[in-house]
Amino acid sequence: MDKILVHGGRPLSGNVRVSGSKNSALPILAATLLTRDECVIHHVPDLSDIHYMLQILSHLGAQVERASGTVTVKAEKIATEAPYELVRKMRASVCVLGPLLGRENEATVSLPGGCVIGDRPIDLHLKGFEALGAAVRVQGGNVKCFASQLKGAVIPLRGKFGSTVLGTDNIMMAAVLADGTTVIDGAAEEPEVVDLANFLNAMGAKIEGAGTRRIIVEGVKELHGAEHAVIPDRIEAGTFLVAGAIAGKEVKLTRANPTHLQSVIGALEKAGFRIESKKDSVTIHGNGAPTPLELITEPYPGFPTDMQAQMSALLCKTNGISTITENIFPQRFMHVSELKRMGANITLENATAIINGVDRLSGAPVMASDLRASAALVLAGLQADGVTEVNRVYHIDRGYEMIDEKLNALGAEIERVKV
Ligand code: EPU
Repeated sequence: MDKILVHGGRPLSGNVRVSGSKNSALPILAATLLTRDECVIHHVPDLSDIHYMLQILSHLGAQVERASGTVTVKAEKIATEAPYELVRKMRASVCVLGPLLGRENEATVSLPGGCVIGDRPIDLHLKGFEALGAAVRVQGGNVKCFASQLKGAVIPLRGKFGSTVLGTDNIMMAAVLADGTTVIDGAAEEPEVVDLANFLNAMGAKIEGAGTRRIIVEGVKELHGAEHAVIPDRIEAGTFLVAGAIAGKEVKLTRANPTHLQSVIGALEKAGFRIESKKDSVTIHGNGAPTPLELITEPYPGFPTDMQAQMSALLCKTNGISTITENIFPQRFMHVSELKRMGANITLENATAIINGVDRLSGAPVMASDLRASAALVLAGLQADGVTEVNRVYHIDRGYEMIDEKLNALGAEIERVKV
């Protein structure tokens, strides 16, 4: 198990290229199961979550090849059951349910359990499959869905915490081969949903309205192979913008999409950072005295829950009192106790973190608990005195391609140690 040592206080400057989006690539790879033809996907990041998805595709019978960032999948004949040993490693495995059900009219996938960011039910996914005419059974830890033929329906998909990203993906993928028209009301508007819809349309699907709250899917008889380039990862990009805010003189992101980053850029500008956005690049300039913020996480285009922990790392040393309220995953504050071990002054009141900026953080051994929390600890380490030892870095490798190498290329001093 690797650990990462972050030597604090090194200034960052230069360019960093944003990788393809993990949360787009995962459902897009699952969508390749919807056709017998070959699909070619570019800008697939080299991450452990992607490896798990490729293992699931192979297990289901697809031929999978990977050459640097390009993955080729040909799923001529497929099985319909994804086993627990593979599914348990990654919650996003649940997004093979939609394509298996859509193509084969049946699917069995282990039910994902809770995870460290809280209870993560899939009731809305299942409600959507039922509305399309599938029978859904939960048995022996598995969810089994089957239908004689899926039929288009109007599906309200909004839950207690708003829209669901993978739920919207799953219903879209099930509905593309259904009889008739499906309307998803309360659909997630995230760019990753739009990327998936664009890929499905390139395969011959008829989807309109992706990126709005109402998605309309007109079922077609079959889909064909397609080639697609995954969008840049807006959360990786946002994480590097915060790194630039914390320790940067000038950090430029290339292959970035500034439109997808608007809420993060808006928050950083409000804190006093100067940011220049061009068509596919974003540059942040350092500012020695940022001002505190009041942030609330919301579905896109609001401030993303996936940037909450990283922004907390910046606000720990921002003079004054900041607040971050978590509206998507109210228990997603595992990073707080670790940041406090580094000297941060944070109190939690229900789903709000109240951050009282301190003058200094000090390096300490800390424990990564989930992907974004781990990124926050690395960011905190960049501005801490001494060395921050981040343990359990496999969490960070699930979603950040070579984060240590990319930060080192900007001037950070980060070592990866095999334990
Ligand atoms: N929810 C339900 N029922 C459902 C589905 C979701 O109540 O059937 C609730 C969730 O518990 C949560 C809210 O709805 O409170 C939103 O969850 P959503 O379904 O949108 O999350 P997800 O699709 O499972 C994706 C990303 C997450 C990201 C969330 C929110 C992927 C693979 N994962 O998860 O990414 O935090 O959307 O934007 O796309 C990450 O990358 O670190 C990560 C956790």
